[in-house]
Amino acid sequence: MHVLVTGGSGYIGSHTVLELLKDGHQVSVVDNLSNSSEESLRRITKMTGKKIAFHNFDLVEGDQLDKLFSNNSFDVVMHFAGFKAVGESVYKPIKYYQNNLDSTLSLCQVMSKHGVKKLIFSSSAVVYGPPDRVPITEDMLLHPTNPYGHTKAMIEQILSDIVQTNQGWEITALRYFNPIGADESDMIGEDPTGIPNNLVPYISQVAVGKLDKLKVFGNDYDTPDGTGIRDYIHVTDVAKGHVAAMHKLPRPNHMAIYNLGTGKGNSVLEVIEAFKKASGKDIPYVVAARRPGDIAEYFASVSKVKDKLNWQVEKIFFRPVKILGVGSQKILMGIANS
Ligand SMILES: NC(=O)c1ccc[n+]([C@@H]2O[C@H](COP(=O)([O-])OP(=O)(O)OC[C@H]3O[C@@H](n4cnc5c(N)ncnc54)[C@H](O)[C@@H]3O)[C@@H](O)[C@H]2O)c1
Repeated sequence: MHVLVTGGSGYIGSHTVLELLKDGHQVSVVDNLSNSSEESLRRITKMTGKKIAFHNFDLVEGDQLDKLFSNNSFDVVMHFAGFKAVGESVYKPIKYYQNNLDSTLSLCQVMSKHGVKKLIFSSSAVVYGPPDRVPITEDMLLHPTNPYGHTKAMIEQILSDIVQTNQGWEITALRYFNPIGADESDMIGEDPTGIPNNLVPYISQVAVGKLDKLKVFGNDYDTPDGTGIRDYIHVTDVAKGHVAAMHKLPRPNHMAIYNLGTGKGNSVLEVIEAFKKASGKDIPYVVAARRPGDIAEYFASVSKVKDKLNWQVEKIFFRPVKILGVGSQKILMGIANS
């Protein structure tokens, strides 16, 4: 199949491009490089010997997208492109609504025009907001607590309305919990610009001395050690989840929604301890105030995705095997199976 991957040079997109190539598909990527570089794709080509057609433009630019669809025949689109920082979205809501919604609408419009109706969308567990209970099942009501989460819930709503038009759309939304880690090759990984928003890249930057200390946001949550509990899923498992979803799209005029998680939670302090043990590096930290919009505990129910997509995580225990400084900027962390 010829798969168009939006946001394909970013963290999760690039790992998915790799898994798609390994699964024998042709891959094209659109990315405006607002939060990534083309280096990830160059490395994937080096690793696999397979070409990736790369198109550097903003999805909001419908004319360029239209031209791309006129010149190619795509079977499926995987839509990763978007802004993803919860904290930033609270301070810059317009930026988030504009980019995440406009890019998706532009994409769907062009797909519709060219008769490409198979779409896999990167949603997030943040759509659930504070859950009434854990594990979180897909049928729970959505109460996002920040603009980023609202964009994901709104896009899910838009996609659900699109399938109701009975024009043959087959759409899957995957709600990721907390993707971490890097491909086993250590050739690609997570390389955020500025101060990382997510725990593991933050710890990695402290471990290699790029940052002095980790900030643990809140140790007064109602959890066993007071720190937040999240469901950390290996990025390669997330990537493989996309390949599984592509092979089992819902029937025409239907939308499917699945959690992608491990079904198990770990606290911030547990993650720090595990990282210290595995890497032999000290991780100094200070406790800071809770971040607005953060939630005490969430982890996924994975029964539905196991049942319907026959997918489950292969990497459960995180055991960082290497912490590498690549050039002056890049930090990659490899996580292997225990
Ligand atoms: N990483 C996580 O923890 C997480 C969790 C849940 C959901 N998600 C979602 O998964 C998707 C991928 O996340 P990621 O961690 O790989 O992020 P990322 O920032 O590494 O990748 C997103 C890519 O999209 C590109 N992009 C953004 N806006 C664009 C636009 N208008 N046109 C073209 N390209 C654009 C960026 O340059 C970047 O390469 C996002 O939609 C994110 O919201 C991520």
